[in-house]
Amino acid sequence: MKFALGNRRFIAIICLSILASIKANAQSSPTILVDVDHRQAISLNGDWHTIIDPYFNGLYTFHHEIRNDGYFLNGTQHLKNGEPLEYDFSKSPTLKVPGDWNTQRELLYDYEGLIWYQRDFEYQPREHHRAFFHIGASNYKAILWVNGRQVCEHEGGFTPFDCEVTNLLHAGTNFAVVAVDDTRQADGVPTLNTDWFNYGGLTRDVALVDVPDKFIDDYDLHLNHSRTAVEGWVHVQDAAPGASVSVSIPELKLKNDAVVGSQGRAEIKLNVAGMQFWSPEQPKLYDVVLQSGEDSLQDEMGFRTVEVSGTKILLNGKPVFLRGISIHAEAPYRGGRVTNDEDVATLLGWARELGCNYVRLAHYPHDQRMTRATDRMGIMVWSEIPVYWAEHFGDPAVLKKAEQQLTEEIRRDRDKASILLWSIANETPNTPERTQFLKTLAGDVRALDSTRLVTAALLVRTEGHIKYVDDSLGEALDVIGANEYIGWYEQNPEDADTTVWKIAYDKPLIISEFGGDAKAGLHGKQTERWTEEYQESIYQHQLPMLNRIPQLRGMSPWILMDFHSPRRMLPGIQDGFNRKGLISDQGEKKKAFYLLQKAYKEERIGKAE
Ligand code: GCU
Repeated sequence: MKFALGNRRFIAIICLSILASIKANAQSSPTILVDVDHRQAISLNGDWHTIIDPYFNGLYTFHHEIRNDGYFLNGTQHLKNGEPLEYDFSKSPTLKVPGDWNTQRELLYDYEGLIWYQRDFEYQPREHHRAFFHIGASNYKAILWVNGRQVCEHEGGFTPFDCEVTNLLHAGTNFAVVAVDDTRQADGVPTLNTDWFNYGGLTRDVALVDVPDKFIDDYDLHLNHSRTAVEGWVHVQDAAPGASVSVSIPELKLKNDAVVGSQGRAEIKLNVAGMQFWSPEQPKLYDVVLQSGEDSLQDEMGFRTVEVSGTKILLNGKPVFLRGISIHAEAPYRGGRVTNDEDVATLLGWARELGCNYVRLAHYPHDQRMTRATDRMGIMVWSEIPVYWAEHFGDPAVLKKAEQQLTEEIRRDRDKASILLWSIANETPNTPERTQFLKTLAGDVRALDSTRLVTAALLVRTEGHIKYVDDSLGEALDVIGANEYIGWYEQNPEDADTTVWKIAYDKPLIISEFGGDAKAGLHGKQTERWTEEYQESIYQHQLPMLNRIPQLRGMSPWILMDFHSPRRMLPGIQDGFNRKGLISDQGEKKKAFYLLQKAYKEERIGKAE
């Protein structure tokens, strides 16, 4: 068929634009859909077929070139010149999603590498609607294909990402393939060495999320400093300037109609006379309805202010003391990653039983179920990205990864009243490179969210019986966090009695870690390490010492529950567990639990001002 020159050029333009759209679609960069748990979605949780692939055979040829006929095709294209197909997802064993692979199959407990996940799913396209593939978290790197087309890739093991798949889906049966590689990376966030178990896999919910063509993809609604209005903005993806947006709080008969400006954002202000502010004593949540065009979202939000005044932390203008405990996202009893409401209820139930009004969710963003629950239960939260120990602070690519995870964490959880503190690091070395790196992150937090406090868990310097908290990073923090282990990693428990603290900053201090190991049920003299009595003596001497620090405004002892760590291999005592829990991984409460519980319940610990 002959085309006139004009036609040929026209055809060429059409082909280029089709290719561009396929390319753009095929490799869209991930975004974050906020409030996914309140959106219409098809859950893709459940059994996925899996292939263990330590040699990355499903991705690379024998000469290590990227294959164009890899496992991601799910056998849908016959290999060239009749090569044998040497994989078949439909006959391969399954793993449950969400869930780490390490605790689902004994053979996979110590596996670190690439595992392929595949499942079919039914879909019916909707006119003027878009589909996003949502992954709540995959540790550590993931690549997603849908119907054999690469969609997106993501690095980071504890934050959600969403990839548009609208143009790749058809009515009926579709299939998804996800390659998850949990190999630790020297230039990763975290880096190679951590004191927690590197659980790999699709460790949080996976779903297909449905949104209208123009949809609300981000918002920041918060109580203003004078607590007279809810202010902020709503961003509508692809909305034209002038598009309408409304935010209402039906229970208070409040509604604000606004219009989208040039940046896709509509500015919001709702005067809030008569609002019950969120607090641990009264964790009031309101239904907040956000609408724009076809899109409507209903979030569940609390409203409160948090700020620093001198060395005090003020919640709704009143000084508060954070009686806390640190928590890893480890499932009680069965081990592995927290994946469901029962895990969350057990962990936060124990924290409540301990007398806590606060938890440090270490050392990475936890499942959103945790922060929805802390909102409902009235438990204040320190949330943290895994910038942990000796990161490659001089590498700009590592800073980019940390900023990406920080953005994903804040966009997901900005609507959680219970989160008061964004922590940007844990126990990092006090070097100029590190300080520069983290001051940048502190600035990023303030740009993303001006309503919360920036903190980090700093290392403490010891000279004899003096503890110095003078890490240069402190200048960039609103609240100083500090970890110390008098009685375990240094000195004896009774040395806390004569320890003097010198804090270089006139800011609130949270002791973000202290404690020691004990094997539940192992008893002996208070001088015998690894016994419950020894751990109890650490707390016995720590608490009066901490009470002597005038600017102490909180603590989160290390840690609520024993957790898996490959760094803890003492036979008969640790057996692969860090035993600093006040509770064993099997729910056995140790003597130190009751000592701290008594101190918390009698509020003998700390002063809010
Ligand atoms: C460190 C670190 C924790 C670790 C703990 C320990 O302070 O922050 O992640 O588990 O101490 O050594 O038990």
